[in-house]
Amino acid sequence: MGPDFEVRDKDVGGRIGKLNIDNKTVETPLLMPVYNPNKPLISIEELRDRFNLKALMTNSYLMLKDDTLREKVLAEGVHKYLNFDGLIATDSGSFQLMSYGSVSTTNRGIIEFQERIGSDIGSFLDIPSLPDSYKPRAAEELDTSLERAKEALNAKFVVNAGIQGSTHLDLRKKAALGIGGNFRLCAVGGIVRLMEDYRFSDLVDIIATVKENLPSDRIVHAFGLGHPMVFSLAAALGCDLFDSAAYALYAQDGRYMTEAGTKRLDNLDYLPCSCPICSKYGMELRELEEGERIKNLALHNLYISFEELNRVKQAIREGSLWELLSMRTRSHPGLFSALSRLSDHSGWLSRLDPITKKTPFYYTGRESRYRSEVVNARKRMKRVSSVNRIRLQPFGRVPVEVLDVYPFGSFSSPEGVVREDPPFSVRDIEKLRAIMEYQFGSGASDLIEDGFRIKKSRKTGRIRWIYRKKELVASVRASDHMIIPKQYLAEKLRERFKYPKLRVVIDDEAVPFVSEGKSVFARFVVWVDPDLRANDEVLVVDRKDELIRTGTLVLAPKEAIDFSRGVAVRVR
Ligand code: GUN
Ligand code: ZN
Repeated sequence: MGPDFEVRDKDVGGRIGKLNIDNKTVETPLLMPVYNPNKPLISIEELRDRFNLKALMTNSYLMLKDDTLREKVLAEGVHKYLNFDGLIATDSGSFQLMSYGSVSTTNRGIIEFQERIGSDIGSFLDIPSLPDSYKPRAAEELDTSLERAKEALNAKFVVNAGIQGSTHLDLRKKAALGIGGNFRLCAVGGIVRLMEDYRFSDLVDIIATVKENLPSDRIVHAFGLGHPMVFSLAAALGCDLFDSAAYALYAQDGRYMTEAGTKRLDNLDYLPCSCPICSKYGMELRELEEGERIKNLALHNLYISFEELNRVKQAIREGSLWELLSMRTRSHPGLFSALSRLSDHSGWLSRLDPITKKTPFYYTGRESRYRSEVVNARKRMKRVSSVNRIRLQPFGRVPVEVLDVYPFGSFSSPEGVVREDPPFSVRDIEKLRAIMEYQFGSGASDLIEDGFRIKKSRKTGRIRWIYRKKELVASVRASDHMIIPKQYLAEKLRERFKYPKLRVVIDDEAVPFVSEGKSVFARFVVWVDPDLRANDEVLVVDRKDELIRTGTLVLAPKEAIDFSRGVAVRVR
């Protein structure tokens, strides 16, 4: 059975997802700690008790190579052997191949072994090319990896399909197209060395190139990405799975992870952490006997990793991932370069990023001008006919009529960033007309008829409801000042804007349900206007362009089309 995957929340290019494999459900982004069957630093029981562990990764090649281990795992199956009934992902020996140049198994051999031990997720023997690898060689290695992928097409486990190609983006593209067509779980491979060398802008280019060339419903794993300082960046680019051997490897080397970087335990006089380990031992951690010290350092590294992952998920939930990213990327120049590098991918990111968010847009530095909210806002400001504009960095010249709308309405910038005051106050009807244009397109202002009555909130004094005679034709959401059209206005929008503008087109099969007010599932989405964004108010129509309902698009257009699971439009 293939994996089921649906998106629950979105921010930037990242998502919180619900992933189901073998009737085991986990939430993504998910971190799978790597369990080394030869020298486990932390027992499975302890991992489970401390972290409520739902998934782990281990290495099938190391199991295959050791005679006693192999026979035992083959006899019991990997779940029983590890005494773990959560998701078990196994790797294939590719990493050993990269480190030692060869392995003593074949692609078929290791696939079959993973089937026999009952891995939930398994890998073929992809070849991780090193960064800057001589291109003809990287191309050849990629071809071999793609050949090997074919041998895994009918595997009994969910294939964690490696995408290689070194730092050559055209090869990465070729790999993504080749793998993405055949596999649901795609893994960006060959990136460990880049991260060790703090080459995060190359990492951005690679992940973005891969993601852009995969269908958006593919689950994306970042192979060997286990340092919490990179989680926000990788999640913002749409990585769903991470695995960490780093927590243990770093511990063995006396390295103490923080969400902002790595410290040597020997160089610390104070511990910047209050996890159970750091609270219990304090600086005594340094004095522990070697084995205990390594184990406890590994535990701390894991605590800090899960903590950061939770922070990333909370940021996605509340729409503040860009703000988290801008903090994290200030802790190392390599990360800061990566933040700037995102500007090369802002077209792609801005099509994924929701148009409105629960939390304010905070200006955190010059690079804020590359944010997808800015890209999207600039595009929509062009729709507005008003000549009354003020300068507001980083958006440019903003029509004064839309200043209450997200992102302008909740925008906050430090002193010294250009922010002109509106020279005069604007009539509500003018605001309404301009917001219509901003939100739906040039010409939408015509739909605000002279007879419309505006009712304001007593509490805030801002526009809340719009009536035509007795009929409510729209409301204005308090949080972001976006217009929510009701039936009458929706029908007018449909007449004013040609198919498929502003529309989510659904299959006839779904029409009876959606008519009743049920959500539109992504499975029934036929087409979505590509100029729409997640969180936009949309017209749900059938193939004949009959208006069925209005609703909020909760996925990006491409996602609504690509996904076959989960909600695409929350219908009103
Ligand atoms: N572990 C770290 N990097 C890789 C990779 O590129 N491929 C596989 N299979 N495992 C890895
Ligand atoms: Zn700690």
